[in-house]
Amino acid sequence: MNLNIAVLSGDGIGPEIIEQAKKTILAIGKKFNHNITFKTGLVGAIAIDKTGNPLPPETLELCKSSDAVLFGAIGDPKYDNDPKAKVIPEQGLLAMRKELGLFANVRPVKTFASLVDKSPLKKEIVNGVDLVMIRELTGGIYFGKPQGRSEDGKTAYDTCVYSSFEVERIVRMACELAMKRSGKITVVDKANVLATSRLWRETAVEIAKKFQGIKMDFMFVDNAAMQLILNPGRFDVIVTENMFGDILSDEASVLTGSMGLLPSASVGLSTSLYEPIHGSYPQAAGKNIANPLATILSAAMMFEMSFSLMKEGKAIRDSVEESIKAGILTEDLKKENPSSTSEVGDWVAEYIRKN
Ligand code: IPM
Ligand code: MN
Repeated sequence: MNLNIAVLSGDGIGPEIIEQAKKTILAIGKKFNHNITFKTGLVGAIAIDKTGNPLPPETLELCKSSDAVLFGAIGDPKYDNDPKAKVIPEQGLLAMRKELGLFANVRPVKTFASLVDKSPLKKEIVNGVDLVMIRELTGGIYFGKPQGRSEDGKTAYDTCVYSSFEVERIVRMACELAMKRSGKITVVDKANVLATSRLWRETAVEIAKKFQGIKMDFMFVDNAAMQLILNPGRFDVIVTENMFGDILSDEASVLTGSMGLLPSASVGLSTSLYEPIHGSYPQAAGKNIANPLATILSAAMMFEMSFSLMKEGKAIRDSVEESIKAGILTEDLKKENPSSTSEVGDWVAEYIRKN
């Protein structure tokens, strides 16, 4: 197959972790006879520095004309402490999600048996956790209007808005996924307080009726935050709105022992985008210490979801699993004698080549 991949490394550790995913993808291309083309685009702080725009139009065009987008991370501390900045890197990511219609963010959380002691939670709690968080990505309080400040600057407002079609399409997607798993799906909301959450519940109940065998339950987000660490094994597929999903997926990443292990796929109306869930980790940028596995596993999701190349995806997953078993781990998972970012990437690519 000819695979045209847009590569947006972005900021912070983005370039170095993306480099490792590219090695992996090229190794897969070679082994399974695919013709891989990478084309790079600017996004985030680096795009602001070079063009004044966190998502230059050429980057968007590149994404639209590619088969998939591989994305690193976005964000730079120089913008974090300036609440008045008009242009910030994160706008690039949000604009990209909106423009590509990426309404669903799929975040699988699965513990690796050989890493259960790395989680701050007890082994009995995290052992065997295997859940998928589906986060709505183009609606809710992230995009609702009005958003802004009063004239005197002393009041600020964000608006949480959802239309039933936005809820329908994401809940449908979550139900389809749940049908391939145990059929169990939990809708997380705050229906005891929020009107949007009541619309979510009402709509989700209707969608569930169309799927025979779906077992849907509902949970308030505050309780879900607690259950995720008390009893994560009770969850299989979780579907939730944009901001709840943002918060809960970071929390869920702790179950696996490191945020550096969690991949994600953003899918919707146009080209899908694959990215690690961790951010730009600026303190580690350029040090060759960040964990590249979340990005490498995002590449596995790309093969499976965008190209329907399941064997290729599995080959990546297997090599990641083997690298973990072999103790080829970055410092987030190994205090003494850790491997560097590029050593992990080289090991994984080499394993693919040899097996
Ligand atoms: C994420 C990130 C983004 C979000 C930021 C960088 C805008 O935290 O992908 O989870 O809030 O969605
Ligand atoms: Mn987040």
